[in-house]
Amino acid sequence: MTNIRSFSTKPSVFHDFQPELMINSPGRINLIGEHTDYNNGFVMPTAIDRHIHFKFRLNNTENFCRIYSDTYTNGFEFYLDNTPVRQNDWKDYLLGIVHELQQNHKKLEGFDCIISSDLPTGAGISSSAALECGFCTGLNELLQLNLSPIEIATLAQRAENNFVGSNCGIMDQFASVLSKKDHFIKLDCKSLDAEYIPADLGNFRLLLLNTRVSHNLADSDYNSRREECEAAIRIIQEKHPTITSLREIDHTLLEQYQQVLSSQTYQRCLYVLQENERVQAAASALRSNDLFALGKLMFASHRGLQHQYEVSCPELDFLVDYAENKEFIYGSRMMGGGFGGCTINLINSENIEGYITEVSEAYFKEFNIHPEAIEVAPSAGTEIIKLVSHE
Ligand code: GLA
Repeated sequence: MTNIRSFSTKPSVFHDFQPELMINSPGRINLIGEHTDYNNGFVMPTAIDRHIHFKFRLNNTENFCRIYSDTYTNGFEFYLDNTPVRQNDWKDYLLGIVHELQQNHKKLEGFDCIISSDLPTGAGISSSAALECGFCTGLNELLQLNLSPIEIATLAQRAENNFVGSNCGIMDQFASVLSKKDHFIKLDCKSLDAEYIPADLGNFRLLLLNTRVSHNLADSDYNSRREECEAAIRIIQEKHPTITSLREIDHTLLEQYQQVLSSQTYQRCLYVLQENERVQAAASALRSNDLFALGKLMFASHRGLQHQYEVSCPELDFLVDYAENKEFIYGSRMMGGGFGGCTINLINSENIEGYITEVSEAYFKEFNIHPEAIEVAPSAGTEIIKLVSHE
């Protein structure tokens, strides 16, 4: 049973829509610290200057909600007095938020919302977190729900875990909501302590190269990596019951389990320990403006993801191998969950244009696909624009 009605014609209410609230919800990049968030480790993401845009207005009904996406050119309407049912498409990110808010006994009312975007989807820059967090922030403002930014990020993560069914960590949602312009966040995913480190990149820029592939096992492989780490913890807990995540394990303890764990699981765990160390080293490099050292850590991170954690793919490896031969690129690595999506490259600004042409040709020759190049800048988290004050 579902109370959700989908439509593809834009409802007339959105033709000359006068919003009372606008939200700009950014995507994110991650400089280093991959697959560490759900292991209670460290990550170093920030928001980017590409957004999903929301316009909201209360519609003076108790429970009728209407949403339209200019990006997907379709929309849906539903009533708040029914429990949302999964639709297996973009709507689930929004319905998941409604569901979590209801679980938290937040009082909702009818609203209209229109969505547009300049944030590519499926590129590994977290359009899903931008959708969840922007929508949640909008409802929080519109209905005065009194959620803090951290509560919005964690609620959005729960919506993705519980409703959408992806077992993601907190990195994407935290970065989308809580980033600061021109800074990276060194985030401790255990305590949620955030250190904002200035992104002084001098003459260097961040260039994303989108492989334009998304291998279809991405979701199940992501969840299975997480399960492997959790299974290792359960084995270690038999003798060390206070340990709850890989965060509490050091190399000496892990070595004691080298013969107990399968060699694959051992490599997964070793990668996580090493990647956490790389994030610490990257934070020091960034604080002292040592971009060369930072770049080396990025390459090392990629090799760990490729050979130990095994979440890369030939297209990502090709782009990183190509970058490794260029003296004007200090660092390159796959970014996000893996199996497709983007590489992130720390590249001298003078060489960007020429490099895009060169690498695109080489990539096309190899895979018959035109990669997409996106230059990004560390940007602020969710932006809230109130147009009409609300009684
Ligand atoms: C995805 C997830 C994040 C994180 C990364 C890998 O982006 O949503 O929580 O686990 O993969 O670092």
